[in-house]
Amino acid sequence: MFITLEGPEGSGKTSHIPYLVEFLREKGYTVFPTREPGGTSIGEQVREVLNDLKNTEMNARTETLLFQAARAQFVEQVIKPRLADGEVVISDRYADSTIAYQGYGHQQDLSQVYGLIEYATGGLSPDLTIYLDVDIETGLKRKKKAEEWNRLDAYTVEFHKRVRAGYLKMAKSEKWVTVDASQCWDDVQENLREKIMAALAPKK
Ligand code: TYD
Repeated sequence: MFITLEGPEGSGKTSHIPYLVEFLREKGYTVFPTREPGGTSIGEQVREVLNDLKNTEMNARTETLLFQAARAQFVEQVIKPRLADGEVVISDRYADSTIAYQGYGHQQDLSQVYGLIEYATGGLSPDLTIYLDVDIETGLKRKKKAEEWNRLDAYTVEFHKRVRAGYLKMAKSEKWVTVDASQCWDDVQENLREKIMAALAPKK
């Protein structure tokens, strides 16, 4: 089972994942947590280039392609072998981040971006995508307070609003479930557990 968590900046995905992993392991699942961009040695190197605040001249197409380069490696080296072993792979972001950020945020041609994703992933898509929704002001404020501020966080508020609008459109898909990430942390965690168990239960 391949589960991805998506959301705009400061939606809290990263802080929830370790607790979800612990919960699922206690239930007897073999769980592999990972993140994008990164998840492999090559991917982590690409991540540094993407996140580096000094790379202000980066073109949107370059950015789009770098994310796909990291992803191609990630799919082959990490995701496919683990899914083949029957593990539950939980990824902090995946291809839908490219649709939201590069497609909607940078306003790149969506059909071309979908084509690049298809090439990078070989068509591998998640079984379940959980969207953590939070408004941009709250999210960016949380992010600035909590952790490192990267090159993408520094894009304009208008950019981040397009990202969220893109997510809200995608979240209408049947494969997506939405969790309101403006609730208190415990409620969000509880909601996430419920959604994941609902997806896993019939298949166990
Ligand atoms: P990160 O610090 O992991 O942010 P977050 O905790 O919000 O996930 O940095 C990842 C950044 O990369 C984040 O701003 C979203 C962005 N991103 C894209 O723009 N496209 C992509 O395909 C992916 C995977 C991430």
